[in-house]
Amino acid sequence: DIGAALASVADPGVDEDALDDLDDRVRAAHERIAAGRADDEFGYASLNLPERTDPAEIRAAVEPVADAEYVLTVGIGGSALGARTITSALADEPERHVVLDNVDPEHVERTLSDLPLAETAINVVSRSGTTAETLANFLVVREAYEDAGVDWTELTVVTTGEEGPLRELADAEDLPTLPVPEGVPGRFSALSAVGLVPPAILGVDIEGVVDGAAAVADDLGPSLRDTPAYAYGAVLHELEQEGAAVNAVMPYAERLESFAEWIAQLFAESLGKDGQGQTPVRALGATDQHSQLQLYRAGPADKVVTFVRPGERPELSIPSADHEALSYLDGVGLGELIDAEYDATVASLPAADRPAIEVEIDRLDPQGVGELLYAMEAACVLMGELAEVETFTQPAVEWGKRATRALIQGESTEETRVVDERTNYV
Ligand code: PA5
Repeated sequence: DIGAALASVADPGVDEDALDDLDDRVRAAHERIAAGRADDEFGYASLNLPERTDPAEIRAAVEPVADAEYVLTVGIGGSALGARTITSALADEPERHVVLDNVDPEHVERTLSDLPLAETAINVVSRSGTTAETLANFLVVREAYEDAGVDWTELTVVTTGEEGPLRELADAEDLPTLPVPEGVPGRFSALSAVGLVPPAILGVDIEGVVDGAAAVADDLGPSLRDTPAYAYGAVLHELEQEGAAVNAVMPYAERLESFAEWIAQLFAESLGKDGQGQTPVRALGATDQHSQLQLYRAGPADKVVTFVRPGERPELSIPSADHEALSYLDGVGLGELIDAEYDATVASLPAADRPAIEVEIDRLDPQGVGELLYAMEAACVLMGELAEVETFTQPAVEWGKRATRALIQGESTEETRVVDERTNYV
């Protein structure tokens, strides 16, 4: 319920007059977003995923690997973080989803040697089908299966675009292949096959996730006062204009730690343009109350903290210690303790003249996670409109991809010349 949280940023933060002005701009931005969605324009089409994604198609594609003990996702950035976020939040055993998104040889070797390969499904994801890290890791993974005498073709599911080397490799081996939907950039694809294949294999109710997202999609209205997702995006934008250069996202649930990583990518890659964009920081409550919070409350006044929590938690009572100094914990549950820490920390920031925003989902279930992911995507798109940046491109990321390829191939390009000259800067 992001809308109800506006009060907690009103002082300090965004006053009522500023909210009214913002609301006029939100209306105009909403019209632009609605038109983009109606035309399935690149990027805006992401907000149509709840009606386009067919969980039955995903379930049919993963049927051959539905009994796998582990899922090994080979992908990076938007092709990995959504799936990790959903399995971390919702799978009964999230550790059964292992992600290879880095090409650190030590890590790749250790990951592969720790996994029972014959019982591990391979989920390869790349929208472009060309990303060096993903393709290189896939080739290493394939060889490891072959060396172990395991038929990787029986265990692999591919999600990729219509064309490209990954599509060709998948076709050549006749692998089950799901499409990355048209018009959807990687970081906005969590609610498609890109994000839903691993949770489907691990038995998560992906239908519920899509339903939750659809409920928020249906409720996107023109006013920030009626649309929590827009309230969040508009207030963050306004706080950025007022000097909040950093947005620390601090969920109070271990299962949402990956969510903070996902949102950091979504906001940084979408909004870090033209000299604008807040720096997202990943934090975790209550753990980071004992580290970063000091800086948030008493450091430079250039931050906003976004608190996220589920409204309901399981019961786990704290046994009595029969000790006077610990008697305040008698009869208390861990859920009560973490919620008290949350309430105290949220209140501590405005009291020190620092803004705080609360995002609450009813509970950590498929519906709630679908709502949360979709609301954050809508907030991000709104922020892009308000900042007038190209939300759906990532030229700096593409620069790095081109530079890597050229360096490996020994080519001389605009990018490699910059690399050659780097000694001038250090
Ligand atoms: O959001 C994005 O566009 C990026 O983070 C991509 O998801 C990432 O670079 C991986 O690209 P691809 O899916 O083409 O391998």
